[in-house]
Amino acid sequence: MSEFATYAVQGEIAVISMNKPPINGLGAALREGIGAGLTQALNDTNVKGIVLIGTPRAFSGGADITEFGTPKTTHEPTLRTVVEMMEAGNKPVIAAISGFCLGGGLELALGCHFRVALPDATLGLPEVKLGILPGGGGTQRLPRLLGFEKAVDMIVAGVHLPASKFKDTLLLDQIVEGDLLEAALAFARKVITQNEPLKRVRDRTVPDIPTDEALAEKRKAVVAAAKRFPAPVSCFDAVCASFKSASFDEGLAEERRLITELFKSPESHALRYTFAAERAAAKIPGLPDDTPLRAIKKVGVIGAGTMGGGITMNFISAGLPVVLLETKQEALDKGLATIRKNYETSMKKGKLTQAQLDACMALIQPTLSYQDFSDVDLVIEAVFENMDVKEQVFKTLDSVVKQGAILASNTSALNIDQIAQFTKRPQDVIGLHFFSPANVMRLLEVVRGDKTAPDVLATCMNMARKIKKIAVVSGVCDGFIGNRMLAQYRAAANELMVQGALPQQIDGAIQAFGFAMGPFRVADLAGLDISWAGRKRRAAASPTPVAPIVDDWICEAGRFGQKTGAGWYRYEAGKRDAIPDPIVEAMITKYRSENGIKPRKIEDSEIIERCMFALVNEAARILEERIAARASDVDIVYLNGYGFPAHVGGPMHYANTVGLPKVLQRLKDFAAEPGANPKWQPAALIVRLVERGTGFN
Ligand SMILES: NC(=O)c1ccc[n+]([C@@H]2O[C@H](COP(=O)([O-])OP(=O)(O)OC[C@H]3O[C@@H](n4cnc5c(N)ncnc54)[C@H](O)[C@@H]3O)[C@@H](O)[C@H]2O)c1
Repeated sequence: MSEFATYAVQGEIAVISMNKPPINGLGAALREGIGAGLTQALNDTNVKGIVLIGTPRAFSGGADITEFGTPKTTHEPTLRTVVEMMEAGNKPVIAAISGFCLGGGLELALGCHFRVALPDATLGLPEVKLGILPGGGGTQRLPRLLGFEKAVDMIVAGVHLPASKFKDTLLLDQIVEGDLLEAALAFARKVITQNEPLKRVRDRTVPDIPTDEALAEKRKAVVAAAKRFPAPVSCFDAVCASFKSASFDEGLAEERRLITELFKSPESHALRYTFAAERAAAKIPGLPDDTPLRAIKKVGVIGAGTMGGGITMNFISAGLPVVLLETKQEALDKGLATIRKNYETSMKKGKLTQAQLDACMALIQPTLSYQDFSDVDLVIEAVFENMDVKEQVFKTLDSVVKQGAILASNTSALNIDQIAQFTKRPQDVIGLHFFSPANVMRLLEVVRGDKTAPDVLATCMNMARKIKKIAVVSGVCDGFIGNRMLAQYRAAANELMVQGALPQQIDGAIQAFGFAMGPFRVADLAGLDISWAGRKRRAAASPTPVAPIVDDWICEAGRFGQKTGAGWYRYEAGKRDAIPDPIVEAMITKYRSENGIKPRKIEDSEIIERCMFALVNEAARILEERIAARASDVDIVYLNGYGFPAHVGGPMHYANTVGLPKVLQRLKDFAAEPGANPKWQPAALIVRLVERGTGFN
């Protein structure tokens, strides 16, 4: 019948089977196949009923987003046409649901007259996560079956739930066990034999229409929670159209109008871009998909501090045993206590049971001896950020860990190639740069050394998925992708401060742009003492005197940030509100006057330009040096590791949106200022892309 849909008749029942890997994305070809099957079944007088079924993995995961923005989306039959064909037909159509039944997949099922599902099938309308809404009638049909309250909550949040949760609702006629096709055929035979009336969802009414006040109240909450995103509010309005419209078709028209608007929104562009970017990050140029993997059954972690503890949690939460090593019993006990406390917090929030907590803790084998590492498959080192300490650790590892095990460092910036040279197996060494708190943050920078073996890289990418991280491959350089860019962002913020903006203005502008915190508040949260120590070390090693900066004066005053109650701001005991401090302002004023700097008025728009374009310019160098494989990888790093606002889609997507010619022009302006930081010189890649008239990606 078609490449992706097959047609067979069993007795009086036609079976249309969707089979388009991986998850029956409803692209033009699959829709055509379903449409053809329906036509054939509806025209065959011997056929009395129709079963629509997918694969065990998916009934259908929804629209084929690779076709978004192409003529294929409007190619007939569209999803709406297929749904209408089924619903309007005079033969019962039964959806047999297994695996994913999401988005357009669920809308397809809603067009069927009956639905049977395996208990672990996953149902939901997650379109809001791509900044759009269910456009195949989902916003009109789901509330007719589940009621307004349940449907609107599901659609606005984009949640998906197992079929078992819909037991005794009109969404599912039957939850079945065992062979799904057999069960669906049996169900169809019953419907035919008993001559059951066809249940067309469009003919139902929404059972729980709220009062105007309740509706206004709920909408207010949705608007507040949606923050910068228009989609949740449009989802809400579309669902309301299911009972406010004069007819079902009018409701559908409103759904269409709203989705058309959303498609044009920059927020939806950013979210759809990010969705594709996440998938692209998993593809590594030159690393075939079938690269063999090394088995990871047991993990070793060295250092039970801030990072080691969080890293351990990732693995034990995924059910992998971890040998956790420290130098002293006291440090080990402290690390274990922190891990337990973190799980207890989750337990109090109802996210974990006591039994699960106990099971996780039982997976940790605390130790003070490297001998316990003899049978681990992967070791991650998270000791102090000091090359001498790392040297000692990796030399020891080389002598005790079995051959073939992967040796990883969580270093934030040190040279992985140098670390690899401390061993006789540099091919097994890799950087696994987790972000703090490591049990929460989704980003993992996988740092590929010169000698890192392909199967080591492939295994780490695969392992990252298992512990629910988004992995991005970085080459070796100071700070890798994320921290190397961050240094330029921070430098731009400091430059703005020196030239005339106060920390609160800079933070305010960055927060208005969409970051949860501006650079100075982040610095206060992270602590100012570590970078101060670094500056002092570098100054001591420098052959020429290094002039102090405002940051040094702040630290000299004992202001290390939130933990000492003062940093760039002051903090009241027990509170986290950053309060601008005249003492800091005085230091900045003094710095300007000592350095002959006349403060100028700086607009918020300039703050955004300098901070963002500093990130973009450094990222362009990173791309040029092939530290990152693609611009979208850089965006994934910033979205998942540095709190870059999701509605903007990452620094590189932002640069594309602004237009590279403008980025280039502003970089040239900044570079041309007297005494400008040479880092403002536009990266060669940006110049080239502008000449070519293209953007990143
Ligand atoms: N803190 C962060 O935000 C962050 C983020 C990413 C990466 N990192 C990197 O992770 C590593 C650890 O940082 P952290 O913040 O967890 O430090 P930390 O000081 O909290 O913990 C380090 C732990 O290592 C232990 N340790 C030190 N030397 C050891 C040795 N020879 N053998 C075994 N244990 C030893 C210490 O007792 C301590 O418990 C560093 O390389 C750091 O750059 C830190």
